[in-house]
Amino acid sequence: MSRQRYSYQPRVGHGLPHDPLNSIIAPRPIGWISSLSAAGVRNLAPYSFFNCFNYQPPIIGFASLGKKDSVRNILETGEFVWNLVTRPLAEAANESSASVAQEVDEFALTGLTPMTGDLVQAPLVAESPVNFECRLTQHLQLQNADGVALDSWLILGEVVAVHIDPALLEEGIYQTSKAQPVLRAGGPSAWYGISEAERFDLVRPDARRK
Ligand SMILES: Cc1cc2nc3c(=O)[nH]c(=O)nc-3n(C[C@H](O)[C@H](O)[C@H](O)COP(=O)(O)O)c2cc1C
Repeated sequence: MSRQRYSYQPRVGHGLPHDPLNSIIAPRPIGWISSLSAAGVRNLAPYSFFNCFNYQPPIIGFASLGKKDSVRNILETGEFVWNLVTRPLAEAANESSASVAQEVDEFALTGLTPMTGDLVQAPLVAESPVNFECRLTQHLQLQNADGVALDSWLILGEVVAVHIDPALLEEGIYQTSKAQPVLRAGGPSAWYGISEAERFDLVRPDARRK
């Protein structure tokens, strides 16, 4: 590289006080994933390696670094629920990330209310204004560029039922900022909110040509 850059190869090391990766790919939406083990224990945990990958049918996914309880449960039952983390729920979402034994119900741990869904057995977070009921479509063990398997797991699921607090629908249009979603950034503790003041609109070139 001839331009002035701080460059490094991740396999060799970043050489910085903190790995900048999750500060750069940021802020990330959060997959607040609830699931049920085959034995019937409820589980809830946040995953910021999370996104939406398809529109119709909607497919969402998250990556677990290590085969965590959420992954084990989803592989056992084939189901999970995504819950929107909002500013009032951020502390509870953070608490639900505590490393606890598989037998521990994070709903009880955080004081959140489990709610029954329509199509899956996994519980919804009643306090969250948006919940997606999902069925597992694919799971993938990630590998590096040499084909070596990593202890990282990608879970993908089809959204089979959507539940939205009607207060977030104005004339049928979902109001993103009204929900006060929160996003995860870098370091051990950085999160961000969003506001309508930060919004800007861009029309796609294909749409302008019509
Ligand atoms: C905001 C936030 C985002 C997180 N994102 C991830 C993630 O993307 N992948 C991951 O493996 N762990 C992530 N974690 C850590 C897990 O939530 C934590 O390991 C949790 O105990 C896993 O729970 P489980 O074993 O019940 O699935 C995150 C934690 C927080 C607070």
